[in-house]
Amino acid sequence: MELKVKTKEREYPIQFKEDFSALRQALEEAGLGGRKVFVVTDSHVAALYGSQVEAQLGDAYGGCVAFPAGEDQKNLQTITTFYDAFLAAHMDRKSVVVALGGGVPGDMAGFAAATFQRGIPFFQVPTTLLAQVDSSVGGKVGVDYRGHKNMVGAFYQPHFVYINLKTLKTLPAREFAAGMAEVVKYGLIWDEAFFTFLEEQKEAILAQEEAPLTQMLYHCCRIKAEVVSQDEKEGGLREVLNFGHTIGHAVETEKHFALLHGECVALGSRAILALCEKEGRISAKDRQRAEALFDFFGLPKTVDGLSAEQVYEQMFFDKKVRNGVIQFVLLQGIGRAERTSQVGRDEVISAIKTILE
Ligand code: NAD
Ligand code: GLY
Repeated sequence: MELKVKTKEREYPIQFKEDFSALRQALEEAGLGGRKVFVVTDSHVAALYGSQVEAQLGDAYGGCVAFPAGEDQKNLQTITTFYDAFLAAHMDRKSVVVALGGGVPGDMAGFAAATFQRGIPFFQVPTTLLAQVDSSVGGKVGVDYRGHKNMVGAFYQPHFVYINLKTLKTLPAREFAAGMAEVVKYGLIWDEAFFTFLEEQKEAILAQEEAPLTQMLYHCCRIKAEVVSQDEKEGGLREVLNFGHTIGHAVETEKHFALLHGECVALGSRAILALCEKEGRISAKDRQRAEALFDFFGLPKTVDGLSAEQVYEQMFFDKKVRNGVIQFVLLQGIGRAERTSQVGRDEVISAIKTILE
């Protein structure tokens, strides 16, 4: 199974596999045969999959750097440890970086590849649900800066995305749930039929039954590939993928990364759903349907220790702020997103209050 992402730089495949055995072939097909490949990963993923990937790369393996897992490591200091490792391994412009792991190593390895010697090729091997359905596709790479989410980064497309579906078997339940926040997002912003599929298949998805899980992953990547192919650098349409993220990122920062990214996206989505219902954009029933899916996957309903004003102020660090005005992604019914800056402060504050304890 394969999908294609079409960008200005190149068209690249997203491959869906059951193991790592076709990794070398994928490299060849991407025109990267005969190059040294350096693995960037985190401590958990290195222990779980590092040796399998090394074995598959064979004589193409050029070394590995593994940072301590977690969002609090997603910063420029960690990036300098990658550069040091690249230098020690004598990497040059023909060398290749592989991002192995979730969205944190994915975003950081991509950023290091984008900037080392002004840019060397990289590819993504995502191992979390969130990374497989979202972060590994589309070329957003970067780091947090002084706690602000993804403040420093670039658009830099991978040469290919290699999804080994079986890696989800080792993913902790809480991480799987966090990934489901981004999955539900696709249904809400893009595709009501997919949303209904999630409602109908939720038990099977949670049990990681192969057919519905694969169908779900493929569908999410298809939507993401379609959006990115139309608007690679977020000139407009791509902003819809940030549904729930402006409030979510603000919560993530204000909680100093105590909550997972996907959990914050769920919280941000719940707040926006409340706002959409209040504005008559969605029915109470549709809001309830979305809330029920988040609930089913065990995603948080509320967050403690924050004030609405504090979250609101933090939202102005969002990359969708234009000339001091926040751009919102709202729904007009399930499956239809709309971008607008016409949302007043009071409406936002009362939406945020619906997710505060
Ligand atoms: P993560 O990379 O920190 O992974 C979560 C945890 O799961 C980590 O502890 C990791 O070690 C562990 N893990 C990874 N794969 C595993 C496996 N197969 N088995 C067991 N444990 C495993 O976090 P994430 O949720 O994958 O990604 C969140 C990040 O992605 C955030 O920084 C967010 O900003 C970013 N993001 C980027 C984009 C994008 O378009 N670039 C989109 C969405 C999110
Ligand atoms: N996750 C948002 C985007 O890729 O644009």
